[in-house]
Amino acid sequence: MDIIVRDNYEKMSRYAAEIIAKCIKSKPDCVLGLATGGTPIGTYKELIRMHKQGLDFSQVKTFNLDEYLGAGIDLGKPYDLDQSYARFMYEELFKHINIKKENTHVPDGLSKEPEKFCQWYEDEIRKAGGVDIQLLGIGGDGHWAFNEPGSSLSSRTRIEPLTKQTLDDNYESFYKKAEIKREQMPHFAITMGIETILEARHVLMIANGKKKAKVIAKALEGPITSQITASAIQLYNGKATVVLDQDAASELKNIEHYRHVEKLKLDYKLGSVSLH
Ligand code: PGA
Repeated sequence: MDIIVRDNYEKMSRYAAEIIAKCIKSKPDCVLGLATGGTPIGTYKELIRMHKQGLDFSQVKTFNLDEYLGAGIDLGKPYDLDQSYARFMYEELFKHINIKKENTHVPDGLSKEPEKFCQWYEDEIRKAGGVDIQLLGIGGDGHWAFNEPGSSLSSRTRIEPLTKQTLDDNYESFYKKAEIKREQMPHFAITMGIETILEARHVLMIANGKKKAKVIAKALEGPITSQITASAIQLYNGKATVVLDQDAASELKNIEHYRHVEKLKLDYKLGSVSLH
């Protein structure tokens, strides 16, 4: 696992976007696993900037990690009250780049048969050839996607109840601004499972800010546990890159070692992207 620390959110975002851009350039029809939340917005801004300079998404396919059950782009609802992840992706990335709508996949929170949908989603990922790079944040409760504490580390795409902490965090970040009452927030989600995520060929986790410092230290340096589902990164057998800002990295015990490894790899020209 490569743990990369950058001075601030902007530099963290740029680093993550460069990894994704490199994948798109080397494989124009690559499959990206995408995430929502406050953390990836900067990465998406960078990708949009790169698109304006020629980065081509016309053959790229995407699969999002999760969606609230009961939410989705539903033309029956006032659009600006729709806090679905489908809308988030449209606003923060898809409408700004030349991706084909039919190549984008966000779990359908409005599905009439959500359990069947979960199986369909797994099949679609497989049919697309699997995910080349999976972008992930980390929740305040240590979750990856909506794999809340106690989720099996071999879970697949399914319906998951949300913890109080997730509801509080996401209320503050998104729902409050839309003046939606907390009790009206969806309490369940469709989420890729931990095993689904770990089948990606490259896992790219990003985190910023002091409020993520403790949970990042637990996930990366603590025991592997279903109580912090992001700790499953320690089981991962493919290429894993964790990009943090200084604040999110501030509780890591082995920070000097991670810096040393990054420098060694650069010295030996093993670094995958340019230094910032
Ligand atoms: P955040 O959420 O980016 O809004 O902090 C991350 C997550 O829940 O995975």
